[in-house]
Amino acid sequence: MFDKNVLKGKRILVTGGGSGLGKEMTRHFVKHGAEVYICGRRENVLKDAADEIMSEHGGKVNYFPLDIRDAMSIEENIENVFNEGPLDGLVNNAAGNFISRTKDLSPNGFNAIASIVFHGTFYITNAVGKRWLELGHKGSIVSILATWVWTGSPFVVPSAMSKSGINAMTKSLAVEWGPHGIRLNSIAPGPFPTEGAWARLMPQTGDKKSDISEDAERSNVPLGRVGKMDELGNLATFLMADGCEYLTGQTIAIDGAQYITGGGTFSMMSSFKDEDWEAIKSTIKGSNEKDKKQRTV
Ligand code: HXC
Repeated sequence: MFDKNVLKGKRILVTGGGSGLGKEMTRHFVKHGAEVYICGRRENVLKDAADEIMSEHGGKVNYFPLDIRDAMSIEENIENVFNEGPLDGLVNNAAGNFISRTKDLSPNGFNAIASIVFHGTFYITNAVGKRWLELGHKGSIVSILATWVWTGSPFVVPSAMSKSGINAMTKSLAVEWGPHGIRLNSIAPGPFPTEGAWARLMPQTGDKKSDISEDAERSNVPLGRVGKMDELGNLATFLMADGCEYLTGQTIAIDGAQYITGGGTFSMMSSFKDEDWEAIKSTIKGSNEKDKKQRTV
């Protein structure tokens, strides 16, 4: 879809870049010429991801362990990265989530998610953004959200609340930092199966990807399938690349139209067959005929 050098010269930090969506976006950025930094809580996972991507595609993937809940540690690490040269992009991908009835959540359970998604994402965004402001350096920030920033979602309330806050951050900082060439957008992915998310959000299917794909085909994704990692990578690459800087402050869903399906009163009719539609037509026609016969004017 893109020239393989579309991100050449860009230095991008991907939080949670050692696994799941973060690793796939890192792979995509490297394939398109970027130098990428990845951070996360497990050094061995980061190292393995960096080695794997560099052995497949060449390029440079740097890694450092970081828990984004720790604001002091973020300051130190981001300072180190900028000492090697300013970043050009930040992908706020690190997140925590698990499915639970809200009444079963302890304060610690709520905080476990909010401290990563809500607080941690803000800490790292501000640590990078304020350095861009000081240096007069332009940058692009992309946060990975979920479509429940628009709809809310039962059973993942701390995530829905926290990601909604980051949605507000995206719009707020796009305005506050826009005059300095810093843009912020977010991506709200639909079902892109990854081991970490599926183990915590769909424990009934675990990481069995074939089951997940079948679920998506049977369920409410109008495109009838789960997302492909390259589709997500292409969107993230587009938002990181030069050429469309006027696009800022937006949250873009990439979900095969899944979330708007719930908003259409008649969405469930997508599964109707020809004979269902014929039956509907004849019922409506019958009703119209009866109505016509009763008309006196
Ligand atoms: C109820 C739970 C729980 C569960 C943990 N807790 N799991 N409560 N049901 N299933 C409670 C614990 O009992 C404890 O509270 C508190 O949460 C903290 O638990 P810890 O295990 O000590 O937390 P911690 O080690 O900080 O781990 C954070 C985590 C963990 C969020 C709980 O799952 C994690 O590290 N996740 C990172 C990766 C991840 O979640 N990836 C999926 C992201 S998917 P008490 O009161 O007992 O002390 C995503 C959106 C996907 O973000 C969108 C798809 C469409």
